[in-house]
Amino acid sequence: MTEGARAGDDVNVAQTGEPEAASRREPGDVLVRVRGLRKHFPIRSGMTRRRAGTVKAVDGLDFDIREGETLGLVGESGCGKSTTGRMVMRLLEPSEGTIEFGGRDLTGLSRGQLRPLRRDFQMIFQDPQSSLNPRHTVGTIVGLPFRLQKVTPEGGVKKAVQELLELVGLSPEHYNRYPHEFSGGQRQRIGIARALALRPKLVVADEPVSALDVSIQAQVVNLLDDLQSEFGLTYLIIAHDLSVVRHTSDRVAVMYLGKIVEIADREDLYTSPKHPYTVALMSAVPVPDPARRESRDRILLKGDVPSPMDPPPACRFHTRCWKAQDICKTREPPLAELTTRHQVACHFPENMPAEDGAGEAVLLGKRAPGGTGPAVAAVAAGEGAEAAAESPAETVVETPVESPAEGGADAPAEPAAGTAGKTPAEPSAETSARTSAEGDAAASVESSTGTPAETPGETPAEDSPKAPGKDTPPTSAP
Ligand SMILES: Nc1ncnc2c1ncn2[C@@H]1O[C@H](COP(=O)(O)OP(=O)(O)O)[C@@H](O)[C@H]1O
Ligand code: SF4
Ligand SMILES: [Mg+2]
Repeated sequence: MTEGARAGDDVNVAQTGEPEAASRREPGDVLVRVRGLRKHFPIRSGMTRRRAGTVKAVDGLDFDIREGETLGLVGESGCGKSTTGRMVMRLLEPSEGTIEFGGRDLTGLSRGQLRPLRRDFQMIFQDPQSSLNPRHTVGTIVGLPFRLQKVTPEGGVKKAVQELLELVGLSPEHYNRYPHEFSGGQRQRIGIARALALRPKLVVADEPVSALDVSIQAQVVNLLDDLQSEFGLTYLIIAHDLSVVRHTSDRVAVMYLGKIVEIADREDLYTSPKHPYTVALMSAVPVPDPARRESRDRILLKGDVPSPMDPPPACRFHTRCWKAQDICKTREPPLAELTTRHQVACHFPENMPAEDGAGEAVLLGKRAPGGTGPAVAAVAAGEGAEAAAESPAETVVETPVESPAEGGADAPAEPAAGTAGKTPAEPSAETSARTSAEGDAAASVESSTGTPAETPGETPAEDSPKAPGKDTPPTSAP
């Protein structure tokens, strides 16, 4: 373990594996180049659907992803991570900016022009429940990319799918089963198998473990890591959870209200965060070791995250930053390289080398001395929820570690009552588009590989589904 990997001593992922392979990878050429990326959603209201405002979900991003590396994208819920991921996947049309993939600008390409390129970039979704069509067998789901791209693998689609199932720790015999027969972790493995079917170069994973039980998260993270080593994949991993990103990423970009405020090599970011927002986020990562927890202070930010419809001018973080000065409210700090390969958008960055004299240096997680801004750097030693409960007057930085999704994604799946008609309906396109980026995963994944492909007349497979998924313990167990 490197120092960088130890510094937060966080969550369960930390206890399971050696994610160090990531840090040893040599960066390759730039595979994805994003410049000036914006997505502004018009908000309409009333009978006439007049425009009532604009959500500036993503508001000017510049970043590169190099071949073979993992870029982690973190930030609080609603800061624009999923919108960014979906634009990189070209599931959403950017309002402005360019996305180059392998040197070719993808923006402006038609669906038809994009289709053959799509095999090189695939997506894994947060909610394996809603991103897998409940009416399709695993064989159909994982084989869909082959059919849509009209690719016939050697030995046929069935054989290729069964190999993919084995690759992700499932059994080839699961070919004829339905998603509801699997646990959450296994469903995510199915989603991973589908994403890898065409051997993509880039995989965008949007909160790939957030919906999973914490005991399963590490297994899926380790699986992603193994697959990256085996196939030389490039990852964009999106998470609200700094601990997950820490154990998967070579570099990490921190987002706040539609902008990247800091981007750096993982170790550099974790040992020497420079943006006050990153410092606050890091202080909220749970520490399992009680002794270290005691010795570490926690920064609580006052106030809510402002609305992306009306973000604060200049530095968007100034309404919550304990270091804010007048200049922060009038001049936007550019994302500038302050130290080697470490870019920060702040007029008064933290943890700067003394000789640079740019801003005051503070230790990670310590109260910022003499803060003059409106926000208060308070101290708490507990975990997120307890700390918040104990300090009702403060608003905790929305904790990067949330509890597993409702419904215990990894509880054993229900017995196979199993006909298509009994499975829950998918959300309507309209609802999903308006409510959450994850909610439309089912539609998006299909469009990510082409068009939704229902299989008329398909009947459930013969083999009678049995106790779901219990016969296949994941191979990448910690
Ligand atoms: N289709 C949409 N229409 C309007 N607003 C949207 C749409 N999709 C996302 N948003 C808004 O854009 C902002 C960023 O959303 P999102 O990218 O999902 O954030 P994150 O993934 O970081 O939680 C949020 O305020 C969200 O409500
Ligand atoms: S010090 Fe100023 S520029 Fe830096 S994050 Fe705080 S408000 Fe923004
Ligand atoms: Mg999201």
